[in-house]
Amino acid sequence: MPLLAIVYFSISGTTDQLAHAVARGAAGLAEITLCRIVGDDIVSGRFQNERLMETIDRAGAVAFGSPTYMGGAAAQFKAFADASSDRWSQQHWAEKIAGGFTTGACAGGDQLHTLTYFSILAAQHGMLWCGLDIPGGEDPAGRNRLGSQLGLATHLIDGALPQSDLVTAEYLGGRLAKLAGRNG
Ligand SMILES: Cc1cc2nc3c(=O)[nH]c(=O)nc-3n(C[C@H](O)[C@H](O)[C@H](O)COP(=O)(O)O)c2cc1C
Repeated sequence: MPLLAIVYFSISGTTDQLAHAVARGAAGLAEITLCRIVGDDIVSGRFQNERLMETIDRAGAVAFGSPTYMGGAAAQFKAFADASSDRWSQQHWAEKIAGGFTTGACAGGDQLHTLTYFSILAAQHGMLWCGLDIPGGEDPAGRNRLGSQLGLATHLIDGALPQSDLVTAEYLGGRLAKLAGRNG
């Protein structure tokens, strides 16, 4: 079974909820490791968690997650991404499947920019990007509510994530796991 590493940052728990939904969707199709980036991983401004990096080394697929902060990924996620430059120079993560998820307070809160950043990070590493193959507004179950096919974009309604966003996160997890299995 391939390993799916879910690498994410969350303060108030929304991205954490999405990460767990991605994991649920991959259950039975992949082994799963939830890698939550925490403040203590960042020492004097630099991300230092080699165990997390080694988990990605072993993974067949990686899901990147962060809340959208000021129109982009949170600084804590960016600290992780910057520290991955050691792996980048050897293209150590090339051929792994990668996908992403984010959330924001607004429906159009520039979540696309966060997802675009994740996909560029994946491209820098030579990873293979996996988006969402659900046409926005066309799905009977209401998945991909915001019509974001680059990755999962969500937002809070009355302070909570709609169920359809969690179901979309589960779908993304399943898709990443299946592609990792196919990728061998
Ligand atoms: C510093 C900061 C910047 C934010 N910037 C944005 C933004 O650009 N767009 C948006 O829609 N929401 C923005 N938000 C709202 C968060 O994305 C939202 O509260 C999210 O649910 C937090 O995720 P978490 O619960 O995983 O920590 C911002 C919140 C903070 C604290």
